[in-house]
Amino acid sequence: MTRHFLRDDDVTPEEQRAILDLAETLKKDRFGTKPLAGPQTVAVIFDKSSTRTRVSFAVGIADLGGNPLIISTANSQLGGKETASDTARVLERQVAAIVWRTYAQSGLEEMARGTTVPVINALSDDFHPCQLLADLLTIREHRGELAGLTVTFLGDGRSNMAQSYVLACAVAGIHVRVASPADYAPDDAVVADADAIAARTGGSVVLFTDPIESVAGADVVVTDTWVSMGKEDEKAERLTRFGQYQVTTELMALAKPDALFLHCLPADRGFEVTAEVIDGPQSVIWDEAENRLHAQKALMAWILDQD
Ligand code: CP
Ligand code: NVA
Repeated sequence: MTRHFLRDDDVTPEEQRAILDLAETLKKDRFGTKPLAGPQTVAVIFDKSSTRTRVSFAVGIADLGGNPLIISTANSQLGGKETASDTARVLERQVAAIVWRTYAQSGLEEMARGTTVPVINALSDDFHPCQLLADLLTIREHRGELAGLTVTFLGDGRSNMAQSYVLACAVAGIHVRVASPADYAPDDAVVADADAIAARTGGSVVLFTDPIESVAGADVVVTDTWVSMGKEDEKAERLTRFGQYQVTTELMALAKPDALFLHCLPADRGFEVTAEVIDGPQSVIWDEAENRLHAQKALMAWILDQD
């Protein structure tokens, strides 16, 4: 059966570990495997802006011996003009996989139902699972074994990054905390799914409204923009509501002394994080951005190898 990667729990703990192991191998031997030799084409579709995702998929597909076909919705028939399932039927006869950055998670689900080739979520309103593979790879490089670590995400708990942290960390056996205003907490259904996974992996999910309590003793502190793509109309409200969740040097001091700081980028310095933290010694954001390449190559190689 075709495997898709639409959310972080579309892989088991064993599969997540295997993908991260492969990413580590590919990072050491960048051109060592060519599962897309032919070359086969991978379609990478963008309904929203991107720098890291666009570059890392284009470079990664080429590294794997394939041909990246980057499509902007603005000049394609997708996006109101043609359904996701019709697009999928057209693409599957010509490409090895479909990577899609879009708004509604339901669009990705429709695309996946309609096609025989793997569909990969390159960010939706609800999840950013490719970023989480890169983040977990980065944390593993700096801290070793993931299971048992404590990771705190602060800010917009309903965002794609927060919700992917909740799921991916549960899969990895990490204790994940999310600090946000109560009405911006992760979706109940996502937390329930993560709780069920964490019960098997030894991880846990705890929601906070108090940023100070949430970072106490954390191994990793993470934040993301307060104004995700598609939420621009709510900017003024969000800057007010999330103000107390800014990651500052004082807040970092409450986590473990060697705690890592991660941010998927792009960042708004002076809003969700101070320049002192994001550009300081605990920040591993450049490793994190580079690891998009290695993690996604591993994901593509792994998913194309599934029956
Ligand atoms: N982190 C991330 O997905 O960045 P882009 O929006 O630049 O792709
Ligand atoms: N939460 C952000 C992530 C950008 C990579 C957004 O959706 O805009």
